Amino acid sequence: MAQSFYITTPIYYVNDVPHIGHAYTTIAADVLARFRRLQGDDVFFLTGLDEHGQKVQQAAAKASIAPQAHCDHLTPQFQDLWEKLGITNNGFIRTTDQQHQTIVKRFLQSLYDKDLIYQAEYTGWYCTFDERFWTEKDVEAGICPDCKRPVEQLSESNYFFRMGQFQDRLKAHIHDHPEFIRPISRRNEVLGFLEKPLEDLSISRPKSRLSWGIELPFDSDYVTYVWFDALTNYFSALDYLPSVPSTTRYWPATTHLVGKDILTTHAVYWSTMLMALELPLPQTIFAHGWWTVNGEKMSKSRGNVVDPNVIIDTFGIDSFRYFLLREVPFGQDGDFSQEALIGRNNSDLANGLGNLLSRTVTLIQRFANGTIPARVTSTEDDLDRELEAAAETLLQTTLPHHLHPERIEFNRTLEGIWGLVQLGNQYIDKTAPWALAKDSTKQERLHTVLYNAAETLRFLCLANAAFMPATAQTMNEQLGLGLDFSHPLLSQNIDWGTLGIGTTVQKGQPLFPRIDASILNKESKLETQGLKTDGQESNKDSKEEENKHQEGSTIEDQISIEDFMKVQLKVAKVLAAERVPKSNKLLKLQVDIGTEQRQIVAGIGKKYDPEQLIGQTIVIVANLKPAKLMGVESQGMVLAAGIKEVEGLLTLSEAVAAGVKVK
Ligand code: MSP
Repeated sequence: MAQSFYITTPIYYVNDVPHIGHAYTTIAADVLARFRRLQGDDVFFLTGLDEHGQKVQQAAAKASIAPQAHCDHLTPQFQDLWEKLGITNNGFIRTTDQQHQTIVKRFLQSLYDKDLIYQAEYTGWYCTFDERFWTEKDVEAGICPDCKRPVEQLSESNYFFRMGQFQDRLKAHIHDHPEFIRPISRRNEVLGFLEKPLEDLSISRPKSRLSWGIELPFDSDYVTYVWFDALTNYFSALDYLPSVPSTTRYWPATTHLVGKDILTTHAVYWSTMLMALELPLPQTIFAHGWWTVNGEKMSKSRGNVVDPNVIIDTFGIDSFRYFLLREVPFGQDGDFSQEALIGRNNSDLANGLGNLLSRTVTLIQRFANGTIPARVTSTEDDLDRELEAAAETLLQTTLPHHLHPERIEFNRTLEGIWGLVQLGNQYIDKTAPWALAKDSTKQERLHTVLYNAAETLRFLCLANAAFMPATAQTMNEQLGLGLDFSHPLLSQNIDWGTLGIGTTVQKGQPLFPRIDASILNKESKLETQGLKTDGQESNKDSKEEENKHQEGSTIEDQISIEDFMKVQLKVAKVLAAERVPKSNKLLKLQVDIGTEQRQIVAGIGKKYDPEQLIGQTIVIVANLKPAKLMGVESQGMVLAAGIKEVEGLLTLSEAVAAGVKVK
């Protein structure tokens, strides 16, 4: 019997279009939902919209439309973005759904009937922005302790939920269930909050002050407080969104993902509401950190709100998904910048995983007729065994451990996956299949190496499937793996060496095109998002243009034929090519120059992908003193045309053997 896994995101206010913060939680939930489906669990993944309350009413008033029309208008912006991002939610709740409203009313009535809701006159400090009262001891100098805006004294009759009654039970629950609030630091914060007496919670608003909400079933002059309405979504959705009511199947929720700012409402309000309703509490409430943008708080007034649509149109969906979960630990704050995203894309994705896939496919095409060859285990050594152990540990231990609801360590999971990417690339470097190919006695070893490289990629494809679904699919296609990701592929141990032989590999587009950082200044659409662009940078571009023209017109010094003859130019054949880590320009080539094999580091990586070069006949300077470029030894120089940027590589019009002199 499959284990049920119910995961939720907060329901987002429809006072504005979605931003990177909304995308963050939703992508995180999607990764966990996909991972658990691959493990064979019975998953329900819920997201949706919080449509009632003051914020939405105000936004609608500003747009001069009715609140419902405003919500209907904004809803597709969220739904379309989730579709674009590959989000696999099973349900999408809107708190204006009639069925949801009915359940909220049922909950209210049941608590009212049990005398857990009562009416009282209340005078207190009210924060309009947060739509809540604060007690005297919370407010200092007339400022809201949460949003730091001024609060006002307000006196009104309202309905209250006897939240205070549940304080001890809640504390005991938190103590008895260490996994209930995560990360631990947040759990301690909530316990600290519960040290003070827990007040009862005002759960109504007079219609005279706020009309956009669900009417109280026992008093038509009031609507319910937005949080009472919103939190109920996690339960109500199960009743009417699945094809059959599924509260018993999925409740209690396995994981509520929330931002750190809404932890108290979840850990305290929601938990005590559930206790009062005699419903079990969720297993884990996990509070994640917040994103700043280029070091600043993201806000409309600063004009730096990041629209995920713009980012994915420019950088690609998987690159965005990867960046958000790789860059910072899930519980901590992080800083978003396009420079950092480009850095991750080019180094981890293009140079790392992309390079491993493309070189493996190229090598199989060149040295195994384009089909996965058979491995011969008797030719294996420690290198192979290390790769095998790392791949099996990754799927069997690393992923389930770090993605467990108690931990949710996306960054460490990805670090683990990229450990195998690195090992795979090193394996190819060390086993040097191009050298094995030259020795007819080493064909079995060559095939074993190619098989093991492809097998590593199969493990990587499975490990990445939840994080980067489109990438996993491309890997699946290029390697001819025939995986169907709608099946529970991770439900059993994946054994090393079960990759089928004889399937045809297919070279495709690079997995992750490298992104040239100069687009940051050129793409005007990015500027309109308020993302910082540096005017000086574009000046630099035009200066470079200027220099180019000047350089072209200067008269260069003439040299004698003897001087020229000092330079030994030779024909060389590229045997292997890969990117130099952390460089977007440098490629490390292994070339055959007839008498020997040389390693040359060439600054042609912006123009060429490594796999394009394998097999090419080029021209090199053979008698240049060896030098180190970014720590990598270069034994010669490749000839290419272009002043600042490489425009073309010198190749030969006829088939000329490696080692022939060029004069
Ligand atoms: N409607 C409530 C939630 C009700 S859940 C029953 C709400 N909505 S919200 O749209 O304002 O915020 C939704 C989520 O976005 C919160 O989890 C919040 O933490 C998150 N984020 C808002 N800005 C963010 C960042 N800058 N970075 C990361 N997440 C951020 O609150």
